[in-house]
Amino acid sequence: MEADVFHSLMNLTQGVAPLADLFRADPSRAQWLTIDACGIHADFSRQRISKPLRDALIHSAEVMDVQGSMKKMANGDVLNITEQRSVGHMALRSSAASSSFAKQALGQLVRAQKLADDIRSGADCGSTKQQFATVINIGIGGSDLGPAMVVKALRAFGSGPEVRFVSNVDAADLDDALRGANPESTLFVISSKTFTTLETMHNAERAREWISASVPNWSQHFVAATAHAEAALKWGIQKNRCLEFFDWVGGRFSVSSVIGFPVMCAIGSGQFAEFLEGMADMDQHVVSAPPNVNLPLMHAVIWWMNSALHGFPTVAVIPYSHDLSRLPAFLQQLVMESNGKSVGVDGRSVLGGTSPVVWGEAGTNGQHAFFQMLHQGTQVVPVEFVTAAASLGTDNEAHDLLFANLIAQSEALAIGRAHAEPHKSFEGNRPSSVIVVDDLNPRRLGSLIAMYEHSTAIQGWLMGINSFDQWGVELGKELAIDTASAIAAGSHRDEQTMTHPLLNWYIKFRKNLSRN
Ligand code: F6P
Repeated sequence: MEADVFHSLMNLTQGVAPLADLFRADPSRAQWLTIDACGIHADFSRQRISKPLRDALIHSAEVMDVQGSMKKMANGDVLNITEQRSVGHMALRSSAASSSFAKQALGQLVRAQKLADDIRSGADCGSTKQQFATVINIGIGGSDLGPAMVVKALRAFGSGPEVRFVSNVDAADLDDALRGANPESTLFVISSKTFTTLETMHNAERAREWISASVPNWSQHFVAATAHAEAALKWGIQKNRCLEFFDWVGGRFSVSSVIGFPVMCAIGSGQFAEFLEGMADMDQHVVSAPPNVNLPLMHAVIWWMNSALHGFPTVAVIPYSHDLSRLPAFLQQLVMESNGKSVGVDGRSVLGGTSPVVWGEAGTNGQHAFFQMLHQGTQVVPVEFVTAAASLGTDNEAHDLLFANLIAQSEALAIGRAHAEPHKSFEGNRPSSVIVVDDLNPRRLGSLIAMYEHSTAIQGWLMGINSFDQWGVELGKELAIDTASAIAAGSHRDEQTMTHPLLNWYIKFRKNLSRN
């Protein structure tokens, strides 16, 4: 963004009156700051935004040609320029599209859905003739967070085998997942775009040993979801159990690809198709809705305003829905891996802050833990309340209490309360948004996730960065390989660096441990 545009937005931002005054001056504020789209009701009225600022933000999105970039993304253009890759995840859910992307994606999706349904019905039982009762996904980052969040969110639609997730290279994670599982009725899904990720490959080896110890044909108990079929086949995955996606699908944007296979196992291919339909609804909305009622666009400009213009360093995502409790973790990767950067596509430093720290925990639990700080702490933390209007269980009273708490918290943050005793005083003017899906079903969840995907990409375009690479994870990976080989060799490092004293201490500790 040009410096003069940025600075005039900054001036407008600083001139915004406190929320209580904004509501007093314009009681109809909620009308122009609420958007209803794809079954999602989004209320942005308790954000520190005025009409002129809203209009200026929309104008700057036009100047930055956000809609042009969105159309390019819908076409699968090469937007990931540092890796020279197309960005094509929207093709994964456009069953009507005829692009070569869409055709490739559809073919693999059909294979995955058939395999998932065979596993669910018992038509595919692996080598033991026992129906699969447990599916364990081994993957990390985008090969874990999306499907894990969706399986949890759609718990009420679960009708197949129990689906568990292992991501951490800490053996405790796989130990937990194996607890009570029977090798004869367990299927592993090795989810890895690259099929080289250290954590995933280590856990996959251990899973293979565990299965082979009691099952004659181990490979019948493994499925792969990968963009590197060759590596998966070499590892021993059977061709008919190797589900493919493509280098034009970024890991954190891959839940609508065959990375969603564990979701298909949990809810069935029909419900998964609904999930994709919901994503397609939002894809259609984002390219066609006018800016002031375009949900991902308004969501994006508000998040960007909070981090880049107001300078709020974090955002708390608080799902008032227990089933959405993995949403903050999913958004951490989506937003922070995409936009946690300092240089733009032009190689220059970005003006203003980029990705906020995204964190959160299910409400109402958070209220009894960290909401004290949100209401009275010295940092202003914008809050994103996310919930469903329809109750999922039979306890409607509990659901009403949940919703009442959400409204109360949002109001308390915005309005505050003056009190003669300073420690009982709430300064208010703390911004929040409320995002409500009418019903937490596969279609609506698909729309919600696509909204976040698009908002993330739009924020990146506003910042002028490439949201689709992740060079920032590479250095740590490289150093870990070198360090792991030093630990495996048990070799003391003599040269003095920042970390060798710690490495040498650990090597010595391990040696002493194995002697005892
Ligand atoms: O290290 C980051 C990352 O590359 C993510 O972008 C990705 O989602 C994750 O690791 C897992 O990668 P893979 O699916 O290749 O195992």
